[in-house]
Amino acid sequence: MTAVNRNETVLKWGLLSTARINRRLIPAIRAADRAELSAVASRSQPRAEAYAAEWGIPRAHGSYQALLDDPDVDAIYISLPNSLHAEWAVRAAEAGKHVLCEKPLAVSVAECDRIIAAAQSAGVVVIEALMYLHHPLLHKARQLVLEGAVGQVILVRGALSISLDRPNDVRWKPELGGGSLWDVGSYPVSFIRWMVGDPQQVFGWQTLSKSGVDETFAGLLRHSSGVLGVFDCGFRELFRSQAEVFGTEGTLIIEQPHVIAPESRILLRRDSEEREISLPQADPYRCEVDALTAAVIDRVPLPVPLASSRANVATMVALYESARLGLAQLVSHT
Ligand SMILES: NC(=O)c1ccc[n+]([C@@H]2O[C@H](COP(=O)([O-])OP(=O)(O)OC[C@H]3O[C@@H](n4cnc5c(N)ncnc54)[C@H](OP(=O)(O)O)[C@@H]3O)[C@@H](O)[C@H]2O)c1
Repeated sequence: MTAVNRNETVLKWGLLSTARINRRLIPAIRAADRAELSAVASRSQPRAEAYAAEWGIPRAHGSYQALLDDPDVDAIYISLPNSLHAEWAVRAAEAGKHVLCEKPLAVSVAECDRIIAAAQSAGVVVIEALMYLHHPLLHKARQLVLEGAVGQVILVRGALSISLDRPNDVRWKPELGGGSLWDVGSYPVSFIRWMVGDPQQVFGWQTLSKSGVDETFAGLLRHSSGVLGVFDCGFRELFRSQAEVFGTEGTLIIEQPHVIAPESRILLRRDSEEREISLPQADPYRCEVDALTAAVIDRVPLPVPLASSRANVATMVALYESARLGLAQLVSHT
């Protein structure tokens, strides 16, 4: 099947699930130009209806497939547990819908390949909702590094931890793709890749929860250029979001890089000088909605293509394998 409306001027969105994270996307879709929130789907019709009433969404569907069958929906936001991303991204693409899929795009490289093939064959746009990479702060930081603001890059460091105090959260469940690396680790791993490209080799250590997922993960990435990446992530500490690039002539620090807030900013340190680079405020969720809209309607290239999301998943798969075996692993990018 092909996309429902080939001459889109406004994208009509449907939410696939009633997940907590929808609270960030709903205002972003409503604030965006050329976007409308049309429908929501849940596994339960009463839950879909209650949710639609609470958020003022025009149509409520009692199954995910019913949302995909809705001819008046152009783009689907997939906010399911991680293990379900690939199945529903593929089904949405096959139904001719554009897709914004929550991070991680999938939990294996083979799943990523199925999503990429489905998007290509249906002629639809699929992107991963790693929202912070769509924010101008991250683009400015990378531009500074590429222009030599810290000299030659030697090491990139990132961290994201949260205190996950909900015992039944999907993130604790191995069968749903839980674990801190898949969840919060997606951010520092993607930050290192955003700055210096894909690693050749990785090493990881993990501490497991009672449920069997990694509740803390620490990893090392080695690039063919010799640049190193270091990160940690977890569910047991207080909130911590950090990103730094260390070079021969300076250090670039992004304060609160992943969950971008008014206090997020770039600091550039060289010798004893510190310069702050401030940028206009922007909602990162709105930025990712705008990126999908521009790719579909204006046919502009995606700032974070699916191949990059696939490489992020490949890197995390290798990190998990390394932690399981206690051995460094090569990252397969083919
Ligand atoms: N980018 C970000 O800032 C950000 C932040 C938080 C989370 N996320 C991502 O968003 C996704 C959802 O996270 P969340 O914390 O919002 O999840 P959540 O509140 O637990 O919601 C997950 C939803 O998935 C549906 N679902 C389908 N099968 C399920 C199952 N077997 N168990 C539980 N729920 C099931 C449920 O919707 P129905 O009952 O309506 O069918 C549920 O509301 C994850 O992939 C996560 O990584 C991204």
